[in-house]
Amino acid sequence: MENYSLPQGSYFLGFDSSTQSLKATVLDASLNIVAKEIVNFDSELSHYKTKDGVYRDASVNGRIVSPTIMWVEALDLIFQRLEKSKLEFGKIAAVSGSGQQHGSVYWKNGSSGILSSLDPKKPLTDQLGDAFSLKESPIWMDSSTTEQCKAIEKAVGGAMELSKLTGSRAYERFTGPQIRRIFETQPEAYSNTERISLVSSFMASLLIGSYAGIDHTDGAGMNLMDIKLRAWSKTVLEATAPGLEEKLGKLAPAYAVAGLIAPYFVERYHFDRNCLIIQWSGDNPNSLAGLTLNTPGDLAISLGTSDTVFGITTEHKPCLEGHVFPNPVDMTGYMVMLCYKNGSLTREDIRNQCADKSWDCFNSLLQQTQPLNGGKLGFYYKDHEIIPPLPVGFHRYVLENFKGDTLDGVKEYEVEEFDAASEVRALVEGQFLSMRAHAERFGMPSPPKRIIATGGASANNSILSSIASIFGCNVYKIQSSDSASMGAALRAAHGWLCNKKGEFVPISCMYMDKLEKTSLNCELAVAAGDKELVSKYAVLMKKRVEIENRLVEKLGRM
Ligand code: ADP
Ligand code: XUL
Repeated sequence: MENYSLPQGSYFLGFDSSTQSLKATVLDASLNIVAKEIVNFDSELSHYKTKDGVYRDASVNGRIVSPTIMWVEALDLIFQRLEKSKLEFGKIAAVSGSGQQHGSVYWKNGSSGILSSLDPKKPLTDQLGDAFSLKESPIWMDSSTTEQCKAIEKAVGGAMELSKLTGSRAYERFTGPQIRRIFETQPEAYSNTERISLVSSFMASLLIGSYAGIDHTDGAGMNLMDIKLRAWSKTVLEATAPGLEEKLGKLAPAYAVAGLIAPYFVERYHFDRNCLIIQWSGDNPNSLAGLTLNTPGDLAISLGTSDTVFGITTEHKPCLEGHVFPNPVDMTGYMVMLCYKNGSLTREDIRNQCADKSWDCFNSLLQQTQPLNGGKLGFYYKDHEIIPPLPVGFHRYVLENFKGDTLDGVKEYEVEEFDAASEVRALVEGQFLSMRAHAERFGMPSPPKRIIATGGASANNSILSSIASIFGCNVYKIQSSDSASMGAALRAAHGWLCNKKGEFVPISCMYMDKLEKTSLNCELAVAAGDKELVSKYAVLMKKRVEIENRLVEKLGRM
């Protein structure tokens, strides 16, 4: 029997550089959590004056960015915190991480020299302030590139062609359209850039002290990679910007070693000099790993800044909605995903307006109302939505005579407002009715065998309860709501093992039949709702789709 065990006494460190925070999770060799840390951007790095970790640029429609150096300072701070907590850095055998997907970093000509000669006596922030040709990184919330999306799709033969080639049609937040916009609007900054990193490969670059490659999985979120060949697509590169291939560097599998940890960290924090940095990947892909999603009937719902729903599949079916990425822990499989921009921040907004800024109050308002909300339906877009592509705005409807069994004789009319309790239910039901409808249309399992929930809002069982009723299945959770840093730590261990064996090994080898003894174990959070209610929700969902289609026809962007 092959030995797939991890070295006793060793640790595996996973980061999650996300929209609102940088998180870290440390696993031991039995895959149990031994340390966790978080740095919140707004409250702990308040000198950057971000709101929700970002700047919303009022002067350009849809432009949303974050200061690149803030992510560097968060890394300085989290290392100081981990040091203070007496984490023995010398025991860490491998490190990996998650980045918010699609966001990009622009390294100024000559910066590789700065990166390779970092002085361990000084914080990273003091040394990298001048390393970027753009000080602000466009992130996944940005929707300023509608024109660039249209142009790229046209140049490659249409939206479906691009989806066939790269796994997604053009999306405004995807890195290719973002790069094209920078090339068009800031040509000097573009030509003054020697390397473009994703948030994931950017953070990995800091850790190895040179430019890290982009991994195949996060690379699929750029509209630039041929998803079958897992190589840059010349056709789309040409449709995006000149001289792009050399600025992007090489692609690598997610399980590959990006490099050894840089001397900077060996000297400053006493890491072992053989500590491996495994390729970083996107936060959603790493969540897929952290939730040990490996059955096609299972769905994961992540309730972070964005809401996402994802699952696994063995084939790539091109589609005009949603995304296909390579599975980060399987050589041949794929992950499929839908992403909503109006997730936690929109729930927070309604909570602040209707529920006294308290989740307890929000939950009790939700419980004061009945499922189906007496036929009250709401569409809440605090930010430009991705699914469907609708602009900022709230739309509320009342369905007259709606009982849940039929739409015959049901008439709807639009209203200006709901009472507070109905508003809260309309928001929550609306978000998950939309998710169920689009997930079904995308071919995701319906009903799913089970749902595994994660992300900040998965702490809220009232929200999970609505999900169980709307989707009609049990909802599970793992011990930590931060599956992205957890998955990154797990992938650090996986990459370490693949490196040791000299070839790819299935990730399940690391936990075999003892998953329930690790911190990755899934436990039931909420049981499925009753079947009659699930079919009534299906009727309400049909109506919702009808109204949504009308809104898209009237107001839609693409
Ligand atoms: P990200 O990783 O995208 O930065 P997180 O997964 O850390 O985001 O989730 C942060 C969000 O979690 C916050 O914006 C907050 O609204 C939400 N959240 C935290 N606790 C609760 C709760 N009890 N109920 C609902 N939402 C919550
Ligand atoms: C996924 C997406 C978001 C970010 C958030 O396509 O845009 O979920 O990854 O961190």
